[in-house]
Amino acid sequence: MTEPTIYKGLVGVYADVSAVSKVMPETNSLTYRGYAVQDLCEETDFEQVAYLLWHGELPTAAQLEAFRAEERANRALSPALLRVLRDFPKDAHPMDAIRTAVSFMGMEDPESADVSDAAQRRKAMRLFAKAPTAVAAANRLSKGLEPIEPDASLPYCENFFHLVFGKVPQPEVIKSFDVSMILYAEHTFNASTFTARTVTSTGADIHGAIAAGIAALKGPLHGGANEAVMHMLKEVGSPEAAVDWLEGKFDHRALVMGFGHRVYKSGDSRVPTMTKYAEKMAEVVGDRRWMETSRVLAKQMLERKNIHPNLDFPAGPAYYLMGFDIPMFTPIFVCSRITGWAAHVFEQAADNRLIRPLSHYTGVEQRAVPSLAARG
Ligand code: COA
Repeated sequence: MTEPTIYKGLVGVYADVSAVSKVMPETNSLTYRGYAVQDLCEETDFEQVAYLLWHGELPTAAQLEAFRAEERANRALSPALLRVLRDFPKDAHPMDAIRTAVSFMGMEDPESADVSDAAQRRKAMRLFAKAPTAVAAANRLSKGLEPIEPDASLPYCENFFHLVFGKVPQPEVIKSFDVSMILYAEHTFNASTFTARTVTSTGADIHGAIAAGIAALKGPLHGGANEAVMHMLKEVGSPEAAVDWLEGKFDHRALVMGFGHRVYKSGDSRVPTMTKYAEKMAEVVGDRRWMETSRVLAKQMLERKNIHPNLDFPAGPAYYLMGFDIPMFTPIFVCSRITGWAAHVFEQAADNRLIRPLSHYTGVEQRAVPSLAARG
């Protein structure tokens, strides 16, 4: 028998067609439904992008108003879920907390078992609206603080800050956060999206698909990198220390978090926009240390290894400067990526075939089962 070709890590494999987004590594660009992400960041907001991903077109004013109203109406958590959140271990990672909260929301959802397109879309809206409430509540409870109730008079991003901090910051901070949410929303067949599509391909419901996506996103090679970046910047400490710190990493052939990408090999399309808004955050807060340190690391990585930063590299310090605790960074990514995951769940279900690849067996040849006595 001829040896099959193995594409380790599925590198270079086209697993299906998709009309949600397009990555163009040759021009370092990314479009959602045909619109360049950097243009969406300047011309729209996260709620409009969520609508775009789910419906294929940007909303009209009336459609947007209805979409926003539905999101605001679905933010509250049930008393049962709040009780469960209170019982989580205080040192649980917030990604484990939101993954478990999403599973719980699935059990509570009135349409839990209904996987029709209409029901999946209604459930996606409920998940989209409730995820920030759960992420913020878990974060506050872990610090011994009471959860804050969502404020239906506030737009999505303003409400997020209200839920976490009990107050809404100045518009520049909201804008930087909104941009990060747009940039994190969608990115073709990355590991967590492919996971969500695989779960959907079995006929399972959207809460299961998204809980699985969250599990995949937690890893440091995927979404967990934005937290790792901030830990790294704090370890480096200052721009002056960056070059020596990096040389030490090269000596040990260690991974430098926030650099490299499976698809982009000459720059991540999202980095210039996120860097611009991370810089704005540094100005607002009046602390340039992290961005200066980042700048030296990025320059040195490029010169020495020809490796470019990815979105997590500027997003990490941006979230830190906004005041979020580091373990909140990847759960924020979850709140954003729920939109992209859901768009892929709808697309997979609309033209489904069970995802089930083959493995090439390299174990021992077939053999007889020895009796227990013969095994000694
Ligand atoms: N730091 C140091 N070296 C890196 C690197 C990094 N962040 N990213 C890639 N490289 C090196 C690899 O070690 C490899 O070197 P080698 O050829 O000497 O073995 C080379 O660059 C090619 O990288 P490869 O492992 O083929 O890339 P991949 O497509 O399999 O992996 C990532 C992509 C994202 C998993 C990888 O770049 C990484 O682990 N980055 C850090 C984590 C991160 O920021 N993740 C967020 C992604 S959005």
